[in-house]
Amino acid sequence: MTETLTIPRPDDWHLHLRDGAMLKAVLPETARHFGRAIIMPNLVPPVVTGDQAAAYRERILAALPEGMAFEPLMTLYLTEDTDPADVAAAHASGLVKAVKLYPAGATTNSASGVSDFNKVRGVLEKMAEIGLPLCVHGEVTDADIDIFDREAVFIDRVLDPIRKSTPGLRVVMEHITTKNGVDYVKSNAAGLGATITTHHLIINRNHILVGGIKPHYYCLPVAKREEHRQALRAAATSGDARFFLGTDSAPHTDPNKESACGCAGCFTATNTMPLLAHVFEEESALDKLAGFASENGPAFYGLPVSDETLSLSKSDAAVDFPEKIETGEGPVTVFDPGFDVHWHAE
Ligand code: DOR
Ligand code: ZN
Repeated sequence: MTETLTIPRPDDWHLHLRDGAMLKAVLPETARHFGRAIIMPNLVPPVVTGDQAAAYRERILAALPEGMAFEPLMTLYLTEDTDPADVAAAHASGLVKAVKLYPAGATTNSASGVSDFNKVRGVLEKMAEIGLPLCVHGEVTDADIDIFDREAVFIDRVLDPIRKSTPGLRVVMEHITTKNGVDYVKSNAAGLGATITTHHLIINRNHILVGGIKPHYYCLPVAKREEHRQALRAAATSGDARFFLGTDSAPHTDPNKESACGCAGCFTATNTMPLLAHVFEEESALDKLAGFASENGPAFYGLPVSDETLSLSKSDAAVDFPEKIETGEGPVTVFDPGFDVHWHAE
């Protein structure tokens, strides 16, 4: 028996495409199912100015295979030297849809991020004025804070003070991993949303560590206890429009993952939509998948929902996902959920 679900073409509200040969290899994996994506600016060097974002956008479009349609939604990497006027111009031209805040040292290529939040006050005030959202990597980096507590501490010590001192600033808490994150979003009124990744709906911290270390499950923020995964599942499948899909699909080559100091990131672009159908079915919430993957994100960003569709069909045969994709830089392992998936995406 085949069951079919048709949803508006989904978007990915948090995606790493990288550059060069890696970009060329991973872009079709996203463009196959997704119409648009918020493109992370953590290249080396980072995408800081409007001119850099425009050039990166051109490289993305040039890497798109013939016949595929995809709209990259560009972001700027917030530094302590970011010029509010440049941000405002990049927003006014329609080029830039968000600014990304990485606390310095929080994750991959975050060295140019923010250490002193007073230094970005002018940019944040300008963003509040023009309605440009701030996408936040919500982890403190203090050495004395346990890595599993970094999101919860960030909310109290950094995010809440920023929001209180910059009224009207629209904020997306990116890739939330805790019940604390879910509760913070729910306890706040307009102007605050959160993305949730596919992998954080599937793995908890045991998956990374029990029975041997699994480098392909290591990402940042790191997956937390099971109770947090359950809170994320409840939020994603609740129909609450403040929660939407941001895969944080983050390709690293196998040698860079399977290393004594492995990079953070799960590569989920290839199989996200089948995995989400599986998760939402488990939660008896298939009717909420369109909201999470296709409707809530555009609503937050003030963009139209796609008028194209994606069909997902369930069949007895499990989907045969590739174990890896080849890139010009080396193989990238596709996220393995650890169970068979019967939802095919067309
Ligand atoms: O796991 C992650 N990988 N988390 C991030 O915040 C960055 C990303 C990357 O760029 O590899
Ligand atoms: Zn990311």
